[in-house]
Amino acid sequence: MEKKAQDEFVEYCDFIVKSGPFDGYQAVEHIIHGKQGSTVVADNMQTVHNFCSNNYSGLAGDPRMVEAAAETMKTHGYGLSSAPLMCGYQDIHKKLERVIADFHGTEDAILYPSGYHTNLGLFQACFNENDALFSDQENHASIIDGMRLCKAKKFVYKHLDTKHLEEQLKKADEYRFKCIVTEGIFSMEADILDLQEYVRIAKKYNAMIYLDECHSVGTIGKTGRGCIEYSGVDPKDITLISSTLGKAVGGGGGGYTAASKPIVDFLRQTSRTFIFSNSLSSPIIGASLRAFEILEEEQWRFTKLKENSLRFRNGMRKNGFYIYGSDDCPICPVFFRDVYYSKYFEVGLMKLGYYTIALAYPVIPMNTARTRIIITAIHTNEQIDGLVDAFKFLADNSTFFEDMKNNTKVMESQIGYAEMAQKSYDLKMSKAAIASPLSAKL
Ligand SMILES: Cc1ncc(COP(=O)(O)O)c(C=O)c1O
Repeated sequence: MEKKAQDEFVEYCDFIVKSGPFDGYQAVEHIIHGKQGSTVVADNMQTVHNFCSNNYSGLAGDPRMVEAAAETMKTHGYGLSSAPLMCGYQDIHKKLERVIADFHGTEDAILYPSGYHTNLGLFQACFNENDALFSDQENHASIIDGMRLCKAKKFVYKHLDTKHLEEQLKKADEYRFKCIVTEGIFSMEADILDLQEYVRIAKKYNAMIYLDECHSVGTIGKTGRGCIEYSGVDPKDITLISSTLGKAVGGGGGGYTAASKPIVDFLRQTSRTFIFSNSLSSPIIGASLRAFEILEEEQWRFTKLKENSLRFRNGMRKNGFYIYGSDDCPICPVFFRDVYYSKYFEVGLMKLGYYTIALAYPVIPMNTARTRIIITAIHTNEQIDGLVDAFKFLADNSTFFEDMKNNTKVMESQIGYAEMAQKSYDLKMSKAAIASPLSAKL
């Protein structure tokens, strides 16, 4: 009997995942038990130091956020069961829009179900075939997907290459609206763009700027206001600012665009992910309002985040590792030549009590490897130094530095990464009997 389409599809999915482009390294959900924080209970019920969430400001598990969410539920209920233009917007949604607009120094703001929805709903609403978008080649998947839904002509320029951007802009004189589309902090490379230069270029070519601040809000700038504050740019020079409530602003989810009032009014009428999707639930709104208050009151978080990031970067560099990106960035991608090592370090660090995640395709380009360490304002010096020591220990107990020096591609058949991590861990444990400062922290 001929196979049914459904059976063939199931077979196809299975084949792709097991032997296709993922090269045997499939991404999995890393389950945690209990709340998000600088330590978490991992799926094996081990309490580990957490270096992989985007909880930059440390507010995700803060009791005040939980309290704000609970209090809001008492007054405003749980869900809205409606899209914003039906009856899904409450007084607190409007209040949050105001707070966001004031935070960014814009006239107004509009809320979306997530940062992803924000990017999906924006380009299609604002631009059409008469317009041109100029996109950094490393822009986030949500930006790329958002631009795909839009009929504007797309020009992709090399990552952070403003000369290439200018070349592209020169070719696009005939378009009605030109918009440079970029992130403030690029989360895979941890670079911060030179926004002053982008503003200069935008003015020269009569272009606008769309700035995705998902990783910059609550992380950089003296008062955590992101790239605009960090670069000393006038918010009026940035036409559209978008960000998420799902990272430094408490991490509960939600996204937004902040802009001038006419632009926001226009988005309310035209942006499909705003119009046709359910509103953010009340506890998220209440807690996000509280998060903005705390970020205003506790600006030590931004200084501490910067100090912590530098402490980790300096410690790692001293030990011979290479870290991508800007020293001011709390995202610290550790470079490996080979996926083998990123898995080795992920497994080995976990055994030593440090929760990190190796990045693999499709999150980063195929045949590249790195572990992205995310530093938060609530990590202690001991946690950071402990992680640096653990990296060093695992590198010293493998051929990591030799392979880096000789540019060796490590074949998995030599020895499995998990087996090697176990060997290093066993060695650590046997040394622990003689008293190791690192194992004392486990
Ligand atoms: C640059 C950028 N934009 C948008 C998003 C999507 O945000 P959200 O998680 O709120 O959907 C992310 C998420 O990682 C991001 O890194």
